[in-house]
Amino acid sequence: MAILDKHAILEKNVTLLAIFAFLVVTIGGLVQIVPLFYLDSTIEEVEGMRPYTPLELAGRDVYLREGCYVCHSQMIRPMRDEVERYGHYSLAAESMYDHPFQWGSKRTGPDLARVGGRYSDEWHVDHLRSPQSVVPESVMPKYGFLEEKMIDGKYIEDLLGTHKLIGVPYTQEMVENGQEDFAAQADPDSDYDGLLERYGDNVNVRNFDGQPGISEADALVAYLQMLGTLVDFSTFTPDASR
Ligand code: HEC
Repeated sequence: MAILDKHAILEKNVTLLAIFAFLVVTIGGLVQIVPLFYLDSTIEEVEGMRPYTPLELAGRDVYLREGCYVCHSQMIRPMRDEVERYGHYSLAAESMYDHPFQWGSKRTGPDLARVGGRYSDEWHVDHLRSPQSVVPESVMPKYGFLEEKMIDGKYIEDLLGTHKLIGVPYTQEMVENGQEDFAAQADPDSDYDGLLERYGDNVNVRNFDGQPGISEADALVAYLQMLGTLVDFSTFTPDASR
């Protein structure tokens, strides 16, 4: 009874109630937040993930600027219908280098998390130019102008530097060679050994839009063709012990 009496005092005194309620919420909050400061990482690392190449990163910027995320998600949920349609469900590690992440919240068009390699570069160029030319009922807008907009690449090293600043593990060497790697990825006749050395073998080196010069379409298609291809799911096994 005694404890109930004391509780009645709390219930009848709004100031006391506020103070105790504040204390309870504070303790609850600390219990949730403090452990996060002692964990090295809350993301399970996965083999194959690498920072985006300069060309892919430039393409990602076009994706952001054009608001592709307004109609497309990049997040496959672990549910049967999604996995059967789009492939393996998305892992946290797959968006660990995304600032900001592109999970999206609306699907007017399909999820793009694993669109890489699903279509040819030509298909993407045709589709961006006129979505209705390949999917007649499409409501996606036309983005043909991206082919005419060239990227001179001067800002690429600053772009990499900015992502490095916010925690993407770009090395100093990657930043310093940013502009060179940017140009090399879009030109299969160039010397792109340095690019592969820095980013690994799973980098597509192609003239993505099939035209001379590096256009925003080159960068965007390079980005799209990489999506979902970095982790090899034929050998991936989730490790719950880490
Ligand atoms: C108004 C909504 C809308 C916007 C904005 C939009 N899309 Fe789409 N997108 C769609 C729809 C609807 C489809 C399905 C029909 C089709 O394939 O065209 C689609 C399909 C696609 C596909 C084919 C996916 C697949 O698996 O078949 C790709 C790739 C794509 N969009 C890329 C983009 C990119 C890149 C942008 C930004 C430059 C963009 N979309 C902007 C609506 C949109």
